[in-house]
Amino acid sequence: MHRIETIKKMKKLNEDTFLIRIKSEAIASRAVAGQFVNIRCSEGMDAYLRRPISICAIDREDNTFDLVYQVRGKGTRLLCGFESGDQIDVLGPLGRGFTLNPEHQHIVVVGGGIGTFPLLQLLKDHPAKKKTAILGFRTKELVVLEDKFKKHSHELLMATDDGSYGQKGFVTTLLEQMLIKERPHMVYFCGPAIMMKRGVEIVSKYGIPCEVSMEQRMGCGVGACLVCACKTKKGEDWDYSHVCKDGPVFAGHEVVFEE
Ligand SMILES: Cc1cc2nc3c(=O)[nH]c(=O)nc-3n(C[C@H](O)[C@H](O)[C@H](O)COP(=O)(O)OP(=O)(O)OC[C@H]3O[C@@H](n4cnc5c(N)ncnc54)[C@H](O)[C@@H]3O)c2cc1C
Ligand code: FES
Repeated sequence: MHRIETIKKMKKLNEDTFLIRIKSEAIASRAVAGQFVNIRCSEGMDAYLRRPISICAIDREDNTFDLVYQVRGKGTRLLCGFESGDQIDVLGPLGRGFTLNPEHQHIVVVGGGIGTFPLLQLLKDHPAKKKTAILGFRTKELVVLEDKFKKHSHELLMATDDGSYGQKGFVTTLLEQMLIKERPHMVYFCGPAIMMKRGVEIVSKYGIPCEVSMEQRMGCGVGACLVCACKTKKGEDWDYSHVCKDGPVFAGHEVVFEE
């Protein structure tokens, strides 16, 4: 069911990345890490379709939740026009979130770009004794929420494509370097499909289970329009799953990544 909620905070985090804090008891009390909301970005016909944004952080005492988004096109640009105190139309919480298994004592989250955001609430909620975050951005200027990730993990490793911050190169290289020395119980990936595909291949070699959070263009966000199909394995064969309803989080070995 969609709700009209109030924006409590709008903050520019860098050139094209923004944080929106929304007050919603219904969403903050029910949402779990990895779920998303589908947002109406304008009143009129502009960007008529809702846009899916992951829940980045939840404050269950304050009944608020945070979304962090990067401006990509019309919808996300319209979102920048909202101000604190405005009303916003949100549908959620939607989808299947991350699995939090208390037997997993050491977890690793691996995120790239906008895929880093939903991993923050996962780190906050997971009961693991050791939590490692490996985050990658294109360049130093795009690094956001580093202090929050530091606060909610025991170890934070950073990578940038151009080497302007942290290690130069891919987050999957950092993961591989770590797996030579340590065997975490679970790895969570969120980011570009190519990164998650490589990540699943790497952890599979070590027999470590993983989950991936898939990103797909969406329409309804609730399993009714079939816009968000992705291929998943069914025995020896494959079939289409809905990212909005069956995901966005899937077991890593379930997903058939397109070449
Ligand atoms: C489950 C889910 C969670 C998401 N969480 C976040 C988040 O936390 N923060 C964030 O910044 N973004 C997130 N996104 C991506 C976000 O939904 C898109 O960037 C947004 O819908 C783009 O809308 P737009 O109107 O601004 O751009 P458009 O004008 O619609 O498109 C601009 C460009 O972005 C591409 N694009 C649009 N939608 C998607 C999509 N869903 N996946 C991949 N590429 C797309 C288009 O192909 C085009 O190149 C998420 C997407 C999904 C499916
Ligand atoms: S977005 Fe409509 S079925 Fe997934």
